[in-house]
Amino acid sequence: MQSVLITGANRGLGLGMVKYLLKQNKAEKIFATCRSPSEELQKLLQDNKNLHVIQLDVKNTDKFEEVALQISRVVGDNGLNLLINNAGVTTKYTKINLVKPEQLLENLAVNTIAPIILTKTLLPLLKKASEANSDKPVGIERAAVINMSSVLGSIAQNDQGGFYPYRCSKAALNAATKSMSIDLKKDQILVASMHPGWVKTDMGGNKAPLDVATSINGIFDTIYKLREEDSGKFLQYDGTELPW
Ligand SMILES: NC(=O)c1ccc[n+]([C@@H]2O[C@H](COP(=O)([O-])OP(=O)(O)OC[C@H]3O[C@@H](n4cnc5c(N)ncnc54)[C@H](OP(=O)(O)O)[C@@H]3O)[C@@H](O)[C@H]2O)c1
Repeated sequence: MQSVLITGANRGLGLGMVKYLLKQNKAEKIFATCRSPSEELQKLLQDNKNLHVIQLDVKNTDKFEEVALQISRVVGDNGLNLLINNAGVTTKYTKINLVKPEQLLENLAVNTIAPIILTKTLLPLLKKASEANSDKPVGIERAAVINMSSVLGSIAQNDQGGFYPYRCSKAALNAATKSMSIDLKKDQILVASMHPGWVKTDMGGNKAPLDVATSINGIFDTIYKLREEDSGKFLQYDGTELPW
């Protein structure tokens, strides 16, 4: 793969993806976007010439065109192979008697609106990569969008209730994944929703059963195998298909 962009890459799963790609030498150019780079990301930047760190608050959709331009200057006619919409938030008190409009709006802004608008903005670069790699099968070596969703966004698997802001924003992201997979089929761009498992990060907490490395290894093993018939699916890190 020539190029990949990951949002929310300063910590948690996003940082884990950057580390994986660098260690495995899987991408020629890695664009790591974040609100502010962590020490760990800064250290990786010093040691790796193929890593580009771009400042981006994903709620700031007005900045997306500028980001597209920055990437375009580096990738040129090769375009962008893979966009991973990873940045995400959740809120603490989310039972029906406690949920607040601002929590719903914040989760929708980061978890749903940002991935849709960033995908829209980067579409010309994804199309370029798809065209430039037309000899390759549909998949991440050609052009793909992976939306980091959550099993909590599955309506079919919701047997606990609550979590209104997070569940609604990820269910809406899943709806967007499905639409994107249909709309981008003609451009041979693959789109899938991914549940990383319950992972030990700031969001997942330390009771989570999976560590970041296990989740990330599974995610990349899974997404490397995705082909045209997998576009529009909702998959878990280990490749299991989840119900919407
Ligand atoms: N961990 C789990 O068990 C789990 C399970 C299911 C799904 N997921 C999903 O996986 C993705 C990554 O989660 P994680 O566990 O790595 O969470 P995390 O440790 O809380 O990290 C969240 C990342 O998103 C970034 N972010 C939040 N708001 C942002 C904004 N407005 N602009 C730019 N970046 C922003 C954070 O950056 P800052 O440092 O600037 O806040 C951070 O890099 C999320 O989409 C999450 O919903 C996680």
